[in-house]
Amino acid sequence: MSSPLFNNIVNDLGRLPERRVYGRVLGVQGLLIEIGGVQTTLSVGDHCWVHTRDGRQVACEVVGFRTGRALLLPFSSLDGVGLGCRVEMGESRPTIAPTPAWLGRVINAMGDPVDGKGPLPAGDQAIPIRNTPPPAHARQRVGGKLDLGVRAINTFTTCCKGQRMGIFAGSGVGKSSLMSMFIRHTIADVIVMGLVGERGREAREFIEDDLGEEGLARSVTVVATSDESPLMRRQSAYMTLAVAEYFRDQGLDVLCLMDSVTRFAMAQREISLSAGEPPASKGYTPSVFAELPRLLERAGPGREGSGTITGLFTVLVEGDDHNEPISDAVRGILDGHIVLDRAIAERGRYPAINILRSVSRTMPGCNSPEETALIAEARRLMSTYEDMAELIRLGAYRLGSDPGVDQAIAHHPALEAFLTQAKAEGTTFGAGYALLQEALAPQPLPGTTPGPGGSGPGAARPGPQMARSRS
Ligand SMILES: Nc1ncnc2c1ncn2[C@@H]1O[C@H](COP(=O)(O)OP(=O)(O)O)[C@@H](O)[C@H]1O
Ligand SMILES: [Mg+2]
Repeated sequence: MSSPLFNNIVNDLGRLPERRVYGRVLGVQGLLIEIGGVQTTLSVGDHCWVHTRDGRQVACEVVGFRTGRALLLPFSSLDGVGLGCRVEMGESRPTIAPTPAWLGRVINAMGDPVDGKGPLPAGDQAIPIRNTPPPAHARQRVGGKLDLGVRAINTFTTCCKGQRMGIFAGSGVGKSSLMSMFIRHTIADVIVMGLVGERGREAREFIEDDLGEEGLARSVTVVATSDESPLMRRQSAYMTLAVAEYFRDQGLDVLCLMDSVTRFAMAQREISLSAGEPPASKGYTPSVFAELPRLLERAGPGREGSGTITGLFTVLVEGDDHNEPISDAVRGILDGHIVLDRAIAERGRYPAINILRSVSRTMPGCNSPEETALIAEARRLMSTYEDMAELIRLGAYRLGSDPGVDQAIAHHPALEAFLTQAKAEGTTFGAGYALLQEALAPQPLPGTTPGPGGSGPGAARPGPQMARSRS
């Protein structure tokens, strides 16, 4: 008698409220439902069920109050909802109860399975979907380095356990592809992936092609596609963190990926505009900027004795304007940012990370002096090249005019080769630093002939052997 279904029923019975209260629909305006009769027992964030005329139940959330009535938004279509329909109170602080059996599964924002693999078992620990982060004083410090398997990030923007980083890029520059590399190659106990408000086709391709069997097996994926209601899209982000918090509380190191935070912000904007909140910055409402830190702060180290949530959040930079309000707000909350550059993607170098504009705020503290020196030297060469790039491309720079620039030009191909990494290829920390060291070894200037068998400057060297990495 201990089948998952039986356990689910027992757990559900335990969570049933002791009494039921009903209200009535008094008005519907756009997506907004006004209800009366129960407004004094409700608070913002509570869930309700509206019984439609055709016998369905529409899940709704309380988003505000106006002239003595509670304002609800629906999680799904409002078809069949009319004046006088009965409204049943649901959970006031909705929770989920994951178990390790959730690994390998795909769920929606309600925590229901959407992969056709049958019901999900429920555990005995309830996690509020809109949880609060542990208080700052009770949190551990950010832990040791986390191997994300992407050498450009492992070396130049090292990420530590419990760190939160943003991945900023315009559309089609490679955010989702980079996420799929993390899923395949990161050395973490568990991965929780939130696909928030992306197109349905993309979500499906991501799960089937990019995640693969192996990635799927050690991850829980939460999906809300762009055609779902703003409440579902917003809640999928909360759900992603709630699942991550469960595994963190089991003492595990969790990698939490979210694609994208911008869609979460847009969902919050739709919700608050519907509830009558006036827009502030670029149509975004003040509550968007209040919700962002509440969401992102939930990632991070746990209390003493529990695990960590390392958060990597993509931010869609509209019109490649890195100063638009959501990018600005997210950059200020997180502990680092990785910038993907359209110009780099256009010349075919993937992942298109702009190293000079990307920062990890735990560096250089997490590195050894040798690693810090290596990174500083590589950054110096890249920055020198970048300053002169225009002149070099135009052919206006004459080799030999400046030894520093000559050196940057000589190292450019090897550094570009170092930064290039195919999706299926993973590189560990150790291999990454070794490859960078090789790329920084003396390189011949283009057009110079190698000395006879020499190994000093001018000697012909093959590019660094990028194959020396785990695949
Ligand atoms: N590592 C990579 N290797 C090769 N091509 C890539 C890589 N990353 C991205 N791309 C190319 O960029 C396109 C868009 O990438 P995607 O991750 O979907 O962008 P975004 O999520 O930012 O919209 C992909 O279809 C692919 O052609
Ligand atoms: Mg994408």
